[in-house]
Amino acid sequence: VQEINIALLGFGNVGQAFADYINRTGASLEFKIKIRAIADSSGGVLLTDDHSLKRALAHKKTGRSLSEFAPAAVITDAHEFIKSLPSAPVRVLVESLPTNLASGQPALGLLNEALAQGTGVVTVDKGPLAHGFEVLQEAARRAGLRLGLSGTTGVSAPEEIAGERVLEIRGVLNGTTNYILTAMQERGVSFDEALRTAQADGIAEPDPGLDVGGWDTVVKALILAKTLMNADTTLADVSRIGIGPETESLIRAARETSRKVRLVGRARIWQGRVRVSVAPKIVTSDSPFYSVAGTSKAALFRTETGREILSFSRSGRDAISETILDDIIKVTQHEG
Ligand SMILES: NC(=O)c1ccc[n+]([C@@H]2O[C@H](COP(=O)([O-])OP(=O)(O)OC[C@H]3O[C@@H](n4cnc5c(N)ncnc54)[C@H](OP(=O)(O)O)[C@@H]3O)[C@@H](O)[C@H]2O)c1
Repeated sequence: VQEINIALLGFGNVGQAFADYINRTGASLEFKIKIRAIADSSGGVLLTDDHSLKRALAHKKTGRSLSEFAPAAVITDAHEFIKSLPSAPVRVLVESLPTNLASGQPALGLLNEALAQGTGVVTVDKGPLAHGFEVLQEAARRAGLRLGLSGTTGVSAPEEIAGERVLEIRGVLNGTTNYILTAMQERGVSFDEALRTAQADGIAEPDPGLDVGGWDTVVKALILAKTLMNADTTLADVSRIGIGPETESLIRAARETSRKVRLVGRARIWQGRVRVSVAPKIVTSDSPFYSVAGTSKAALFRTETGREILSFSRSGRDAISETILDDIIKVTQHEG
């Protein structure tokens, strides 16, 4: 069994869920994941054994910060925390900071520093990739590393596509908007009511702007387009229509003709460039997205050989942790 030492930058929902997952399933895994450092907004701590991780996790679950957990040992400067990783010794940094779509910072700078010192990177945070995809890929290439970003796109790029040129990507990439649209369609409720239900069910955030405004889908489609189509598109180039009360008439039209409305992110080649767009679309019963209901997600990849590969998001409570684990393994198997 190969041991892989990792660090968690961000110890909120995702970071804690991953630590729980490793504690629960670790013994059955082919690779032994050792969480050797964790950081929240108060600072980072290096962990010498599994017992201190369990104590830190229990402490965080009471709502307290890591600086209160280890006041004497906490590294309050995030840059210093990154610098301390090689001595831990940590091979892979898993980043799950809150998404900053305005600049990608501070994550973008911190990930760049990690790659420059040879620490592998897995991120589930779309912010740094929306603003620094090329910079991070270049830093990874220089270090002989591969970036793990499967957790940022809602639906991971299918493995079997490797090496083939992708001409078009279409996807239902955001679970929250799909949940709202599904409720509007199946229960005939207004957008506002469907949104309130989604918030009460813990699906939509209290501030749902990034989801319903289509931004989350924009960034996911953009990252897929950059990864698979080599797109040089920027956030500002993406044409974006989200969902709202104005989507109700589209839903009515779809309901009358037994069709469905889905918020579709699309990347395609047009006039020699990759164009990315997001808009609610009516889909017919022969569309692969017709049956993608509720919080489910799916994407269709069309390659130059004419193949169309349909890929679904993972589901279940461990979905994001399994994606992170796969990426950690991929990153470490591609070193050197
Ligand atoms: N939830 C999912 O299933 C899911 C799936 C895919 C991707 N994501 C992405 O994962 C990321 C994290 O989501 P989440 O739900 O885990 O968020 P969260 O619960 O808010 O956790 C964020 C963590 O980052 C820490 N943090 C904030 N600013 C920091 C800074 N400047 N330096 C160091 N640590 C800092 C927070 O510290 P405190 O603990 O001190 O507040 C917290 O531990 C987001 O980018 C999200 O889009 C989430």
